[in-house]
Amino acid sequence: MKGIVFTEFLEMVEEKFGIEVVDHILNESKLQSEGIYTSVGTYDFIEMQSLLINLSKKVAIPLDDLIYSYGLYFFNTLTKVHPGIFALYKDPIELLSSIENHIHVQVRKLYPGAELPTFKIEKKTEDQLEILYFSERAMYMFAKALMEKTFEHYDQASKIRLEKIENNGTKVRFLISKKYGTYQKD
Ligand code: HEM
Repeated sequence: MKGIVFTEFLEMVEEKFGIEVVDHILNESKLQSEGIYTSVGTYDFIEMQSLLINLSKKVAIPLDDLIYSYGLYFFNTLTKVHPGIFALYKDPIELLSSIENHIHVQVRKLYPGAELPTFKIEKKTEDQLEILYFSERAMYMFAKALMEKTFEHYDQASKIRLEKIENNGTKVRFLISKKYGTYQKD
């Protein structure tokens, strides 16, 4: 997992819960990196899992909610660091359906060693997108947050539902629709 994901995470924890909580989770987690992250480095995903679990225990908020909040936060980072990528798209469904074949392809070049999910489009219309998410990291709530923020970025309302195909969240179907259209699943 890339360093930027850790540095932004710790920044969010500091903003929301304070520096004492950052110190606490760094001390409680067994970190090979010793909690020293640079944005261009690459670190074991186990470290993020450990930080999240210890944060969840400390602040008594479920893991899924914390990962979702982190997705909302990370989206703002993405728009600041990569405005050019967002400028290429005029519509949230166009952007979301291009993650696999364009956006994360660029990301692999910009961030060597990035561990990215796989997305497969099952159905796409002007107003709706049905997409499968695959990742060993099961960060589907992070994905949901990024999807919602993508709609917000284009000033559009959305309705995003998810169905776990695998119980552990490594395979999840997202049913995405612009709010003015109702999603029809057949
Ligand atoms: C300019 C747009 C984007 C950039 C630059 C970008 C970049 C990245 C980077 C750097 C990571 C971390 C990789 C690692 O730690 O090894 C990541 C992970 C991820 N990205 Fe993107 N991303 C973008 C848009 C999106 C969007 C719109 C989604 C919406 C679903 C998305 C879904 C994810 C997910 C779910 C992960 C977590 C890894 C996993 O689930 O396995 N990304 N992305």
